[in-house]
Amino acid sequence: MKCAAAAVVLLSLLSVGRSAPLSDCDSLVKPITISSEDMLGKWLYIGGSSDLPGSRSLGRLLSSVWLNITATTQSNILNIVQTQRTYDTCSSLVYNVTFENSTLIIDHSFYLKEVYLPTDCSDCLAVHEEITSGKDTFISFLLFSRGKSVSAAAVEMFKRQAECLQMPSPIMIDPNYEICPDDILPSEGLSVLNNLLEMKMVHRVGRFLDSIFDMFMN
Ligand SMILES: *[C@@H]1O[C@H](CO)[C@@H](O)[C@H](O)[C@H]1NC(C)=O
Ligand SMILES: *[C@@H]1O[C@H](CO)[C@@H](O)[C@H](O)[C@H]1NC(C)=O
Ligand SMILES: *[C@@H]1O[C@H](CO)[C@@H](O)[C@H](O)[C@H]1NC(C)=O
Repeated sequence: MKCAAAAVVLLSLLSVGRSAPLSDCDSLVKPITISSEDMLGKWLYIGGSSDLPGSRSLGRLLSSVWLNITATTQSNILNIVQTQRTYDTCSSLVYNVTFENSTLIIDHSFYLKEVYLPTDCSDCLAVHEEITSGKDTFISFLLFSRGKSVSAAAVEMFKRQAECLQMPSPIMIDPNYEICPDDILPSEGLSVLNNLLEMKMVHRVGRFLDSIFDMFMN
C-alpha cells in the first residue's frame, strides 16, 4: 500500500516535471550576454535546425563545419574563417562580421542577425540566426562547441530550445567525422552566400530536396 502511494506521488512529480518545460521556454530562448572575447577561437559545428531551403538535405551531406573567429583592428569587427567538408571535399570561406551588444550582424546584400541562447555546456555556443534576403526571412538554430562532441544533457537542452522556437527537429552531426585541415585557402564568402540566397530556383529545389530527405530519414 505504501509502495503504491509512493508510486502515485512519484508519478505526479514526474508529470509535474514533464509539464513544466512548456513554461520554461521563456528562459530557454532568452538571449544571453556574451563578449567578443568569448566568441574568439575555434568552434566546431555540432548540429542544428533551419528553415533555410535545402539546409535539411545539405545538413545531412555536410560532415563537418568549423569556424575560426579572430579579432581585427576594429573592436566591433570580427573575422570568421569557415571551413567545411561536404563528402570528401573541403572548402573555406572568409568574411567579416559586426559584433556589438552580444549581437552578430552581417549587413551585406542580405541581412543576418545572430543572438546567443543559454546552453548547458560551458564550452558551447547556441546560435539563433535570422537571415533576411529580399522578402524572405529564414531562421536557423545552431549548436557549436570547442570540442568534437557535447554531453547528452546539452543536446537535450538544445533540442528543447528548438521545440520552444517551433523549429524542425535538429540534425546532429556524426561525432566520428574527420575535420578539414586549417590550411585551406579561403575564398571571400559573403558573395557566395548571397548568390545562394538570391537564387529563387534554389529555394524551390531546396524545399523539394528537404521534403525528400525528411521522408526517407525520419
Ligand atoms: C575585415 O576587416 C578588417 C578590419 O577592418 C580589414 O582589414 C579586412 O580587410 C576585412 N576583411 C574582409 C574579408 O573584408
Ligand atoms: C549597442 O549598445 C549601444 C549602447 O546601448 C548603442 O549605442 C548601440 O547602438 C548598440 N549597437 C547595436 C548594433 O545595437
Ligand atoms: C585561427 O586564425 C588565427 C589568425 O589567422 C591563427 O593564428 C590560428 O592559428 C587559427 N586557428 C586555427 C585552429 O586554425
